[in-house]
Amino acid sequence: MQIYLAPMEGVIDPHMRYLLDQLGGIDLCVTEFIRVSKTVLPNHVFLSACPELTPLAERSACGASKYGACSTTRVQLLGSDPELIALNAHKAAQLGAKAIDLNFGCPAKTVNRSFGGARLLDETTLLHKIVHTTRQRVPTATLVTAKIRLGYEDKDSYLRNAVAIAEAGADELVVHARSKADGYQPPAYWRYIKEIKQHIDIPVIANGEIWTVEDYIACRQQSGCDSVMLGRGILARPDLGLAIKAHQQGKYYEFLTWPKIAELTLMLLRLTKAFYPVKHMGNRIKQWLFYLQRTYPQASALFDGIKRSRDFYFIEQAIIHETLQP
Ligand SMILES: Cc1cc2nc3c(=O)[nH]c(=O)nc-3n(C[C@H](O)[C@H](O)[C@H](O)COP(=O)(O)O)c2cc1C
Repeated sequence: MQIYLAPMEGVIDPHMRYLLDQLGGIDLCVTEFIRVSKTVLPNHVFLSACPELTPLAERSACGASKYGACSTTRVQLLGSDPELIALNAHKAAQLGAKAIDLNFGCPAKTVNRSFGGARLLDETTLLHKIVHTTRQRVPTATLVTAKIRLGYEDKDSYLRNAVAIAEAGADELVVHARSKADGYQPPAYWRYIKEIKQHIDIPVIANGEIWTVEDYIACRQQSGCDSVMLGRGILARPDLGLAIKAHQQGKYYEFLTWPKIAELTLMLLRLTKAFYPVKHMGNRIKQWLFYLQRTYPQASALFDGIKRSRDFYFIEQAIIHETLQP
């Protein structure tokens, strides 16, 4: 059983990956998507999305954060040109990526309009070609994985796409158990994943709507998957991975209390200070509080207290105050 940290563009960036990985309970991470549209991208694009590729000592020279998460971070590519994706995948592999993940699930209008992400779920032949060409271009030791939704408008293409992806040589498949039209609205339709598992031999990882250990148990029962990918759920409950692992081992687990969570937000504020201009100061923290308030009511109060501030020291003091709460 493995716990994957979901890629979330603009939210789970290298700093957040680092923080959650340090906390524990995560086995594997995936970068935010890197969009491939016209060229083979320059090194710095890969290295800033995935600073984990750069040896620590060299990170600041390429503008990458010195904080990157686990060495098992996969580089995710998004696009629709098989040859171009394969060339970029090859480059990422040359830079040290151990695995390339292909995004066939992004619902964003701009992405779908240019024939990328979830839009490809209605184009099984193309999807097969992208995986196949990528598989052929990257070294055998480099894993090629894919992430799909159940369909575009309807939940109708998951079986043919999963089979095509497996036949094209993918090593693993993550299934976000909703259609593009479902967006991010509950529920997630985990039972469809069981059907996929009956048709392909590669590992299938279940994703979508796992907010609690109970959700994990239900997802496992309905999908037949051992491994899961956690997205918004782990942002709302940062030690959800640890709790799931404890459950697996039959151990009691006590969730982190608010002051400990506030300490994590303080770490994120300090980690990101040098990376954002003053006008965006604290934005990442405010964004995280949005997710945290689902579990911790104190997060809403903290958000209200800092929402208009861009002053690092003001925000820092407000968070420190929370870390001192009994
Ligand atoms: C803000 C946001 C950004 C996302 N960015 C990506 C991305 O870059 N690549 C990707 O494959 N999925 C992306 N996703 C989808 C998540 O990885 C995940 O599949 C989805 O949130 C469902 O899981 P959850 O219910 O556990 O959050 C994003 C989701 C959100 C909400």
